[in-house]
Amino acid sequence: MKIFLDSASVEEIHKWFAQGVVDGVTTNPSIMFKDGIQNIKEEAQKICALLGDRPLSVEVTTNDHATMLSQARTFITWAANVVVKIPIVNEHGHSCLGVINTLAKDGISVNTTAILSFNQAVLATKAGAKYVSIFAGRVADEGNDPAVVIRNVRRWLDEWGYATEIIVGSIRSVMDVQNAALAGAHVITIPPQYFPKMVDHKYTRETVRQFVQDAEKILEEVEAKRAAYATASK
Ligand code: E4P
Repeated sequence: MKIFLDSASVEEIHKWFAQGVVDGVTTNPSIMFKDGIQNIKEEAQKICALLGDRPLSVEVTTNDHATMLSQARTFITWAANVVVKIPIVNEHGHSCLGVINTLAKDGISVNTTAILSFNQAVLATKAGAKYVSIFAGRVADEGNDPAVVIRNVRRWLDEWGYATEIIVGSIRSVMDVQNAALAGAHVITIPPQYFPKMVDHKYTRETVRQFVQDAEKILEEVEAKRAAYATASK
């Protein structure tokens, strides 16, 4: 399973990438806005350079299919590891499958985003998406269980031998990460604020404190014995 960072903050990406746990990055216009990004191209290129050959998803910013295609074609000139994020439908409910299919046929990696149901994931896969982004938090907002959607999509992909990967996004708690992992996500994209919560545990701190204290006691004993021996042999 891969872990992506759901962020446009170069600082956060650098911090967690340096610890060996980041396999890629996803962004969307809301994340860019929250992280204070003014120049999308410049920021995307910085992140891509940091990631090496790991993918960065950049989302189109329009409802118009023709503009989606031209934005996608521009994004991929920024760096070799750019993946284009296309919503499954635009805000008017018009299918974006044609856009996904055109890009996929041109060899462009597409992350189909804002997926909330099994059928949306099936159609995006058929259209040629490399990734289907299931929004766990938003599925739950609607009163549905994201684990069921993730598990069903994963089973269907495996049964029919599709290479499309499930990215689980819209993570709202540390427990969402565990649930997505156990439901069969290929990738979970996690906002940076959850990483410290995932790695830390107060009882782990206490355990390590006990080990450090006992190690210090051993050193004190060794030092005391060495001093006693030095005095006795004078
Ligand atoms: C990631 O690819 C998604 O864009 C992101 O996780 C959506 O999260 P949200 O539902 O909290 O906006």
